[in-house]
Amino acid sequence: MVTGTGAGQWGSALAMACHPYGMECTVFMVRSSYRQKPYRGTLMRLNGAKVFTSPSEETEVGRAALRADPDSPGSLGIANAEAIEYANDRKEARFSIGSGENHVLMHQTVIGEEALLQMELAGEFPDVVIGAMGAGSNFAGITFPFYRAAQTENPATRFLAVEPDACPKMTRGSYLMDHTDYSGVTPAVKMYTLGHTFMAYHIHAGGLRYHGAAPIVSAMYHHDLVEAISYGQNRVFESGAAFAKAEGLVPAPESAHAVAAAIDEAVKAREERKKRVILFGLSGHGLLDLSAYESYLSGETVDVVPTDEEIQKSLRPLLEPT
Ligand SMILES: Cc1ncc(COP(=O)(O)O)c(C=O)c1O
Repeated sequence: MVTGTGAGQWGSALAMACHPYGMECTVFMVRSSYRQKPYRGTLMRLNGAKVFTSPSEETEVGRAALRADPDSPGSLGIANAEAIEYANDRKEARFSIGSGENHVLMHQTVIGEEALLQMELAGEFPDVVIGAMGAGSNFAGITFPFYRAAQTENPATRFLAVEPDACPKMTRGSYLMDHTDYSGVTPAVKMYTLGHTFMAYHIHAGGLRYHGAAPIVSAMYHHDLVEAISYGQNRVFESGAAFAKAEGLVPAPESAHAVAAAIDEAVKAREERKKRVILFGLSGHGLLDLSAYESYLSGETVDVVPTDEEIQKSLRPLLEPT
């Protein structure tokens, strides 16, 4: 857990401060995710972690966020800032960095390397590789090994990052220098971002509510080497439910974004009467997200989209000369 990603694949949207020589972890889990997925907190506690909902009363950053909005749903940027402050205040603790960092992306490529071997067994090479996009390690993990192999196997292979309409950093963000945490204490990196103070509306795919896209993925997007698309959560749950019915596996709401895009690619191929080999990452199961599916089945999930003005508000400070 100490070397794990901060957010990716836990469906939990969290940041960690860890004792470097042991397994003691203090976790700041984004409040909206904690409410939706309380059993992920239980799993972490079972493994010995101390779990706080973020914004918390434990740090100055958290207390300030709660003063500004006592009902704040939190964000990964705030959770990161809290974990950094918490670790800074304790000689023994270290901040364990989240899923947008370059080395974490590389770490996750074990997924794509395995998928490459599986595709080889199937005697196929994908025409399109699809991954849900939070901070980027999940998308990079499945796509990067295929990006390398495509240079010789199939240069036409496409790579598609799927994000929520509620947090559209690639499809509607700007390519700017920005911080990875809410307080702006981390070094600024060049990335597609909605601004580190952007507060995404509550959606059930909490792991995709991060304001920025990892620098390598951002650079590839900027140079048209990868594509991006966004979906509203009702369409995402419809796809997740269709997948569950067809395959007997419930995808996590984050992963169901990739399922939605895979379905669209398949329908397009059928309409064009073309064979298309589609690979997508099923990054997590949804058994701890059944309450989210219950909301969908009861017609309670809403599609939330930030306005241009809301996005500009958090981007504006980054554009102003300092
Ligand atoms: C199930 C699942 N898939 C995908 C992601 C996105 O991962 P990343 O932040 O690495 O892009 C997350 C993030 O928490 C997740 O929980």
